[in-house]
Amino acid sequence: MSDNMLKQEAIPQHVAIIMDGNGRWAKQHGKERYEGHIAGVESVRRVLRAAAAGGVKYLTLYAFSTENWGRPAAEVEAIMELFCKSVVGETPELVKQGVRVQIIGERSRFSSRVVELIDEIERTTEGGQRLTLILAFNYSSRRELVLAMQDIAHRIRKGELAAEDISEETISESLMTRTIPDPDLIIRTSGECRLSNFLLWQASYAEFYFPEVLWPDFDEVEFGKALEVYASRDRRYGLVTEE
Ligand code: FPP
Repeated sequence: MSDNMLKQEAIPQHVAIIMDGNGRWAKQHGKERYEGHIAGVESVRRVLRAAAAGGVKYLTLYAFSTENWGRPAAEVEAIMELFCKSVVGETPELVKQGVRVQIIGERSRFSSRVVELIDEIERTTEGGQRLTLILAFNYSSRRELVLAMQDIAHRIRKGELAAEDISEETISESLMTRTIPDPDLIIRTSGECRLSNFLLWQASYAEFYFPEVLWPDFDEVEFGKALEVYASRDRRYGLVTEE
Protein backbone atom coordinates (compact mmCIF):
# COMPACT_ATOMS: atom_id res chain seq x y z
CA MET A 1 0.00 0.00 0.00
CA SER A 2 1.41 3.40 -0.93
CA ASP A 3 1.17 6.54 1.23
CA ASN A 4 -1.54 8.16 -0.85
CA MET A 5 -3.69 5.03 -0.54
CA LEU A 6 -3.83 5.42 3.23
CA LYS A 7 -7.22 6.63 4.42
CA GLN A 8 -7.16 10.20 5.74
CA GLU A 9 -7.95 9.15 9.33
CA ALA A 10 -5.18 6.57 9.16
CA ILE A 11 -2.55 9.26 8.71
CA PRO A 12 -0.99 10.34 12.00
CA GLN A 13 -1.42 14.07 12.53
CA HIS A 14 1.71 14.19 14.68
CA VAL A 15 4.76 11.93 14.32
CA ALA A 16 7.57 12.21 16.88
CA ILE A 17 10.94 10.55 16.30
CA ILE A 18 13.84 9.61 18.56
CA MET A 19 16.66 9.66 16.00
CA ASP A 20 18.97 6.93 17.33
CA GLY A 21 21.93 5.06 15.91
CA ASN A 22 24.16 7.75 14.38
CA GLY A 23 27.18 6.61 16.41
CA ARG A 24 26.69 2.93 15.54
CA TRP A 25 26.23 3.81 11.87
CA ALA A 26 29.52 5.75 11.94
CA LYS A 27 31.33 2.82 13.57
CA GLN A 28 29.92 0.38 11.02
CA HIS A 29 31.26 2.61 8.23
CA GLY A 30 34.68 3.19 9.85
CA LYS A 31 33.86 6.88 10.43
CA GLU A 32 33.98 9.29 13.37
CA ARG A 33 30.82 9.74 15.45
CA TYR A 34 30.24 13.29 14.18
CA GLU A 35 30.11 11.90 10.65
CA GLY A 36 27.19 9.78 11.79
CA HIS A 37 25.40 12.97 12.85
CA ILE A 38 26.16 14.56 9.46
CA ALA A 39 24.59 11.54 7.77
CA GLY A 40 21.70 11.90 10.24
CA VAL A 41 20.92 15.37 8.92
CA GLU A 42 20.33 13.83 5.47
CA SER A 43 17.73 11.57 7.07
CA VAL A 44 16.10 14.63 8.64
CA ARG A 45 15.73 16.15 5.14
CA ARG A 46 14.33 12.94 3.65
CA VAL A 47 11.87 12.32 6.46
CA LEU A 48 10.67 15.93 6.50
CA ARG A 49 9.91 15.68 2.77
CA ALA A 50 8.16 12.34 3.20
CA ALA A 51 6.12 13.58 6.18
CA ALA A 52 4.92 16.68 4.31
CA ALA A 53 4.08 14.60 1.23
CA GLY A 54 2.23 12.03 3.36
CA GLY A 55 -0.06 14.63 4.97
CA VAL A 56 1.55 14.67 8.44
CA LYS A 57 0.97 18.08 10.06
CA TYR A 58 3.43 17.95 12.99
CA LEU A 59 6.85 16.30 13.02
CA THR A 60 8.88 16.34 16.24
CA LEU A 61 12.54 15.31 16.21
CA TYR A 62 14.55 14.63 19.37
CA ALA A 63 17.77 16.34 18.30
CA PHE A 64 19.55 16.86 21.64
CA SER A 65 18.51 15.68 25.08
CA THR A 66 19.47 17.37 28.34
CA GLU A 67 21.47 14.21 29.08
CA ASN A 68 23.49 14.64 25.84
CA TRP A 69 25.58 17.38 27.53
CA GLY A 70 27.41 14.48 29.19
CA ARG A 71 28.93 13.38 25.86
CA PRO A 72 32.55 14.29 24.98
CA ALA A 73 32.85 18.08 24.47
CA ALA A 74 33.94 17.66 20.83
CA GLU A 75 30.80 15.68 19.99
CA VAL A 76 28.52 18.19 21.77
CA GLU A 77 30.25 20.99 19.85
CA ALA A 78 29.82 19.10 16.55
CA ILE A 79 26.07 18.58 17.15
CA MET A 80 25.60 22.29 18.06
CA GLU A 81 27.48 23.37 14.93
CA LEU A 82 25.55 20.98 12.73
CA PHE A 83 22.24 22.08 14.21
CA CYS A 84 23.01 25.79 13.66
CA LYS A 85 24.39 25.26 10.16
CA SER A 86 21.45 23.06 9.14
CA VAL A 87 18.70 25.31 10.44
CA VAL A 88 20.28 28.46 8.98
CA GLY A 89 21.10 26.82 5.63
CA GLU A 90 17.67 25.24 5.27
CA THR A 91 15.55 28.24 6.29
CA PRO A 92 14.80 29.56 2.76
CA GLU A 93 13.74 26.08 1.61
CA LEU A 94 11.62 25.56 4.75
CA VAL A 95 9.83 28.86 4.11
CA LYS A 96 9.29 27.87 0.46
CA GLN A 97 7.86 24.50 1.50
CA GLY A 98 5.49 26.04 4.08
CA VAL A 99 7.28 24.51 7.07
CA ARG A 100 7.02 26.26 10.40
CA VAL A 101 9.83 25.51 12.88
CA GLN A 102 9.37 25.50 16.64
CA ILE A 103 12.07 24.62 19.15
CA ILE A 104 11.20 23.00 22.47
CA GLY A 105 13.76 22.70 25.27
CA GLU A 106 15.51 24.95 27.76
CA ARG A 107 17.37 27.79 26.09
CA SER A 108 19.25 29.00 29.17
CA ARG A 109 22.22 26.70 28.61
CA PHE A 110 22.84 27.73 25.00
CA SER A 111 25.27 30.41 23.86
CA SER A 112 23.65 33.71 22.90
CA ARG A 113 24.46 32.93 19.26
CA VAL A 114 22.45 29.70 19.37
CA VAL A 115 19.54 31.44 21.14
CA GLU A 116 19.51 34.19 18.48
CA LEU A 117 19.50 31.62 15.67
CA ILE A 118 16.64 29.72 17.28
CA ASP A 119 14.60 32.92 17.74
CA GLU A 120 15.29 33.91 14.16
CA ILE A 121 14.29 30.62 12.55
CA GLU A 122 11.05 30.59 14.58
CA ARG A 123 10.28 34.16 13.49
CA THR A 124 11.18 33.62 9.84
CA THR A 125 9.11 30.45 9.46
CA GLU A 126 6.10 31.38 11.60
CA GLY A 127 3.80 31.73 8.58
CA GLY A 128 4.33 28.09 7.49
CA GLN A 129 0.99 26.28 7.13
CA ARG A 130 1.86 22.94 5.59
CA LEU A 131 3.73 21.24 8.42
CA THR A 132 5.16 22.25 11.81
CA LEU A 133 8.64 20.88 12.49
CA ILE A 134 9.32 20.75 16.22
CA LEU A 135 12.96 20.32 17.17
CA ALA A 136 13.51 19.11 20.72
CA PHE A 137 16.85 20.65 21.60
CA ASN A 138 18.16 20.52 25.17
CA TYR A 139 14.84 18.89 25.95
CA SER A 140 13.98 16.61 28.85
CA SER A 141 10.42 15.61 29.62
CA ARG A 142 10.88 15.43 33.39
CA ARG A 143 12.44 18.90 33.41
CA GLU A 144 9.53 20.14 31.30
CA LEU A 145 7.11 18.70 33.90
CA VAL A 146 9.05 20.28 36.78
CA LEU A 147 8.86 23.69 35.08
CA ALA A 148 5.13 23.19 34.44
CA MET A 149 4.53 22.33 38.13
CA GLN A 150 6.43 25.45 39.20
CA ASP A 151 4.36 27.56 36.82
CA ILE A 152 1.10 26.11 38.18
CA ALA A 153 2.27 26.64 41.79
CA HIS A 154 3.02 30.33 41.02
CA ARG A 155 -0.44 30.76 39.54
CA ILE A 156 -2.01 29.26 42.65
CA ARG A 157 0.08 31.51 44.92
CA LYS A 158 -1.02 34.57 42.94
CA GLY A 159 -4.67 33.50 43.33
CA GLU A 160 -5.15 32.92 39.58
CA LEU A 161 -5.94 29.24 39.99
CA ALA A 162 -7.43 27.02 42.71
CA ALA A 163 -5.61 23.74 43.43
CA GLU A 164 -8.81 21.71 42.94
CA ASP A 165 -9.24 23.26 39.47
CA ILE A 166 -6.01 21.72 38.16
CA SER A 167 -7.04 19.48 35.27
CA GLU A 168 -5.26 17.54 32.52
CA GLU A 169 -5.70 20.65 30.35
CA THR A 170 -4.01 22.83 33.00
CA ILE A 171 -0.96 20.58 32.80
CA SER A 172 -0.97 20.24 28.98
CA GLU A 173 -1.25 24.02 28.66
CA SER A 174 1.74 24.52 30.96
CA LEU A 175 4.11 22.35 28.91
CA MET A 176 6.54 23.49 26.21
CA THR A 177 4.27 21.69 23.72
CA ARG A 178 1.18 23.74 24.69
CA THR A 179 0.41 24.71 21.08
CA ILE A 180 1.08 21.23 19.67
CA PRO A 181 -1.33 18.25 19.68
CA ASP A 182 -0.13 15.05 21.39
CA PRO A 183 1.88 12.69 19.17
CA ASP A 184 -0.09 9.91 17.45
CA LEU A 185 2.98 7.90 16.50
CA ILE A 186 6.38 7.75 18.20
CA ILE A 187 9.23 6.16 16.28
CA ARG A 188 12.62 5.25 17.75
CA THR A 189 15.18 3.95 15.30
CA SER A 190 18.05 1.51 15.90
CA GLY A 191 16.04 -1.17 17.70
CA GLU A 192 16.12 0.49 21.14
CA CYS A 193 12.72 0.31 22.84
CA ARG A 194 12.62 3.13 25.38
CA LEU A 195 11.39 6.71 25.63
CA SER A 196 14.51 8.24 27.25
CA ASN A 197 12.77 11.23 28.82
CA PHE A 198 10.89 12.18 25.64
CA LEU A 199 7.29 13.52 25.71
CA LEU A 200 6.32 11.38 28.73
CA TRP A 201 3.01 13.18 29.41
CA GLN A 202 2.18 13.72 25.74
CA ALA A 203 2.81 10.06 24.79
CA SER A 204 -0.13 8.72 26.85
CA TYR A 205 -2.08 7.42 23.84
CA ALA A 206 0.64 7.33 21.19
CA GLU A 207 1.37 4.26 19.10
CA PHE A 208 5.00 3.11 19.22
CA TYR A 209 7.17 1.80 16.41
CA PHE A 210 10.73 0.58 16.89
CA PRO A 211 12.42 -0.29 13.57
CA GLU A 212 15.86 -1.91 13.69
CA VAL A 213 17.28 0.49 11.10
CA LEU A 214 19.84 3.08 12.24
CA TRP A 215 18.82 6.75 11.86
CA PRO A 216 21.19 7.57 8.93
CA ASP A 217 19.61 4.65 7.03
CA PHE A 218 16.05 5.77 7.78
CA ASP A 219 14.63 7.04 4.49
CA GLU A 220 11.31 7.68 2.70
CA VAL A 221 10.70 3.94 2.33
CA GLU A 222 11.24 3.34 6.05
CA PHE A 223 8.99 6.28 6.89
CA GLY A 224 6.32 4.86 4.57
CA LYS A 225 6.55 1.53 6.43
CA ALA A 226 6.03 3.37 9.74
CA LEU A 227 2.89 5.03 8.36
CA GLU A 228 1.57 1.67 7.17
CA VAL A 229 2.16 0.08 10.56
CA TYR A 230 0.34 3.01 12.18
CA ALA A 231 -2.60 2.65 9.76
CA SER A 232 -2.93 -1.02 10.71
CA ARG A 233 -3.13 -0.31 14.46
CA ASP A 234 -6.44 -0.26 16.32
CA ARG A 235 -6.41 2.76 18.63
CA ARG A 236 -8.95 2.19 21.37
CA TYR A 237 -8.09 4.81 24.02
CA GLY A 238 -9.16 2.39 26.75
CA LEU A 239 -12.48 1.60 25.02
CA VAL A 240 -13.61 -1.50 23.08
CA THR A 241 -13.69 -1.89 19.31
CA GLU A 242 -17.17 -1.95 17.75
CA GLU A 243 -17.87 -5.15 15.77
C1 FPP B 1 21.46 9.78 18.32
O1 FPP B 1 22.44 8.89 17.86
C2 FPP B 1 21.61 11.11 17.71
C3 FPP B 1 21.85 12.28 18.39
C4 FPP B 1 22.00 12.33 19.86
C5 FPP B 1 22.02 13.57 17.69
C6 FPP B 1 21.10 13.78 16.53
C7 FPP B 1 21.40 15.09 15.92
C8 FPP B 1 21.36 15.36 14.60
C9 FPP B 1 20.98 14.38 13.55
C10 FPP B 1 21.72 16.74 14.17
C11 FPP B 1 20.61 17.68 14.52
C12 FPP B 1 20.21 18.49 13.38
C13 FPP B 1 18.95 18.85 13.04
C14 FPP B 1 18.80 19.79 11.90
C15 FPP B 1 17.72 18.36 13.69
P1 FPP B 1 23.56 8.36 18.85
O2 FPP B 1 24.75 9.25 18.74
O3 FPP B 1 22.98 8.23 20.22
O4 FPP B 1 23.86 6.95 18.23
P2 FPP B 1 24.39 5.63 18.99
O5 FPP B 1 23.34 5.24 19.98
O6 FPP B 1 24.54 4.65 17.87
O7 FPP B 1 25.70 5.99 19.61
